[in-house]
Amino acid sequence: MSLEIKNIGPLPDFAAEITGVDLRQDLDDETFGAIERAVFENGVVVLPNQDIDDDQQIAFSERFGALEYSLRFHRHGDPIRPEISQLSNVGDDGLILKADSETMTYHRGNQLWHTDSSFKAVPAKCSILSGREVPPVAGGTEFADVRAAYDDWPGSETLGISKADLEGLVCEHSIIYSRSTIVGDIFTDEQKNAVPAVRQVLVREHSATGRKVLYVGSHCSYVIGWPTEKGRALIKELNDWVVQDKYVFRHTWRQHDLVIWDNRIVLHRGQTWAEEEHRRVMHRTTVAGDGPTTAQVAA
Ligand code: OGA
Ligand code: MN
Repeated sequence: MSLEIKNIGPLPDFAAEITGVDLRQDLDDETFGAIERAVFENGVVVLPNQDIDDDQQIAFSERFGALEYSLRFHRHGDPIRPEISQLSNVGDDGLILKADSETMTYHRGNQLWHTDSSFKAVPAKCSILSGREVPPVAGGTEFADVRAAYDDWPGSETLGISKADLEGLVCEHSIIYSRSTIVGDIFTDEQKNAVPAVRQVLVREHSATGRKVLYVGSHCSYVIGWPTEKGRALIKELNDWVVQDKYVFRHTWRQHDLVIWDNRIVLHRGQTWAEEEHRRVMHRTTVAGDGPTTAQVAA
């Protein structure tokens, strides 16, 4: 197989396109290794023309490691495999859902900058998103390089915080918190109990490349041991810093694109589209991380 890797992002080591590979075939170790390396080095990798089904997506994804099971809040029963998170505006009856339906309200959280599963004690490593049906306009996905953003961060004059001060800080992450900022309190008590808040380091080191990143995003709610408002102010400054245009790659979907990102390297968010007009059906597999970023404390 003649794999070609081409940079398509705003920075020389951020966002690549890979062609010359067919994920419906079994990949030899060398080809898979080249794709995995490209993900760890570029943060985002786009593989066009991968017309795969769920079984093929799962088989390919499992080469990166064990998969997470999707949360499945606000979804109706359907026969989809538990390794697949379905981001879809199409209901079980095949019709486009109303914008204010439970499912669409829940998924609206993906339009905030985030990193997948940072609300879990062991956050996700990679996410793999397959564009099964894509809208003809808009509905893209944006990615921000939190390595370059960390490298450049000058410190906060307003808050009197230097880059060195960030080392050792730990934040609480919660999906209940992040959803509350965009759609209010949509969870039942049982769901809340299923996803208790967790702790993550603020400066994280990538296990394969050693590069440091700002591990922030919408689930990040406050700094442990700091007054809530001061922590929120710092998190807001960092979130605003990392999503500056120069660190952002915007992907416009074509049907059968497969996009892989490393959640340790990028924040991402979905862009809006005419959601009551155009179908958008995306299937995601999520590769579990290697371990927690810091010790958890029982609630
Ligand atoms: C995701 C996600 C955004 C999008 O799949 O994790 O955030 O554009 N998706 O659908
Ligand atoms: Mn996501």
